Amino acid sequence: MQVLSVASEIFPLVKTGGLADVAGALPGALQALGIEVHSLLPGYPAVLQALGRAAPVWSEPAYFGGPATILAAEAGPLRLFVLDAPHLFDRPGNPYAGPDGRDWADPQRFAALAYAGALLGRGAAAGFSPAIVHAHDWQSGLTPAYLALGGAPRPATVMTVHNLAFQGQVPASLLAELRLPAHAYTPDGLEYYGAIGMLKAGLRYADRLTTVSPTYAAEICTKQGGMSLDGLLRARADRLTGILNGIDTTVWNPQTDRALPAPFSAADPGPRRASKAAVQRRFGLRQGADALLIGVVSRLSHQKGLDILLACLPELRAHGASLAVLGSGEAGLQDGLARAAAAAPGEVGFLAGYDEDLAHLMQAGCDAILVPSRFEPCGLTQLCALRYGALPVVSRVGGLADTVIDANAAALSAGVATGLQFEPASEAGLVRALGRLAALWSDRQAWAATQANGMRADVGWREPARRYAAMYRDLMPL
Ligand code: ADP
Ligand code: GLC
Repeated sequence: MQVLSVASEIFPLVKTGGLADVAGALPGALQALGIEVHSLLPGYPAVLQALGRAAPVWSEPAYFGGPATILAAEAGPLRLFVLDAPHLFDRPGNPYAGPDGRDWADPQRFAALAYAGALLGRGAAAGFSPAIVHAHDWQSGLTPAYLALGGAPRPATVMTVHNLAFQGQVPASLLAELRLPAHAYTPDGLEYYGAIGMLKAGLRYADRLTTVSPTYAAEICTKQGGMSLDGLLRARADRLTGILNGIDTTVWNPQTDRALPAPFSAADPGPRRASKAAVQRRFGLRQGADALLIGVVSRLSHQKGLDILLACLPELRAHGASLAVLGSGEAGLQDGLARAAAAAPGEVGFLAGYDEDLAHLMQAGCDAILVPSRFEPCGLTQLCALRYGALPVVSRVGGLADTVIDANAAALSAGVATGLQFEPASEAGLVRALGRLAALWSDRQAWAATQANGMRADVGWREPARRYAAMYRDLMPL
């Protein structure tokens, strides 16, 4: 079976968050099940530079405002189609914003990506005829719409929501320019609050909908978690499933990870000590194995709840713990964290930026990894934490609720605890969690047992891939 995956980022070529990790790792896991996945992504400068041999398979001189070519290429194990459209993607900065942090405003960029997904779905590349086109997030939300509105025969479509907070709203005046039929601009079609809704379109027209955890699947069907799309999601709930993400256990393997000073394993976590000392040095924190070291690796956005953490720093320090935060994003949070670090040298450390190796080192060296998200579709950092022996301390939402087993008395005595959960995602909730964490830290036996359970938890892609494969097969007779 051939599948086309359409996403705006893919690890290791271009990444701003977990979407790239998923788009990068799921194809390999499906490959092991006999499913051939090709991934379509935009030709950002970093992507084009990373390609070895690339062959044009399709081109159009005036495609969404300029010349465009689809290249077929490989990058490591990834089979790629790259939409090379310099007028849309040859820009500095990250996929969504320029170096000044301001988002690119032209909706043509991702409509063009989505349309290319539909073209490839209909066989634009010789020898490639996918049974399934799998769209990820708002950037490819129009792909299922282009396919459905274009009529039969067409491949089946799957729309996966990685984050409902990003929806892609486009002025209705662009309908024709974006190659969308005017007749579909109705509340039951593309229209969403007086505009074209890119994610809404995907949710409306895809044959199947998924999101990245069962709890988030339930949350987005409620008024509280549905971010104005809950009505549509409830109406299509019979098509919606939650499939948990995994992590790439070859990239995240503490026995072979080159970013660590010493390898370790569940059977022998002792060498984590060297990583802990290295993290303390990097963040200018006081040295020593005894003080509880809490880490955060995160985008800095309201979603991630780091303002809540800032409010709890006095309690964290009162427990004798120290904190290391690696993150980039909103300027306000960045300033707040920098100020907190300056006010408590040796106890609070903050490094602004995006650093893959340091993220690995922190997972290996921190005693606990904190994820105080207000909402979290799945979350990957808590999965990395489990695998690397850092206890995840997470708010009980979305995929965090589904992947961490709280070390309450029952779970501890049954020997199944893997971390701590708290609710609500508020100052009071986090203060209680920090108290529980400190108590667990002082019970070294319970701590070690919890850590060992976590390190043995199955966080890989095998089981999730099996579920996606079953869904694809289910769609086949369409
Ligand atoms: P989201 O996609 O919402 O940001 P996830 O937890 O799903 O959250 O995925 C985040 C991914 O990005 C993880 O692989 C994490 O290690 C990585 N990451 C986040 N922030 C940073 C950072 N500042 N430096 C390095 N890696 C980061
Ligand atoms: C989004 C979500 C995150 C999820 C990731 C990959 O960025 O915020 O929770 O893990 O996508 O699915």
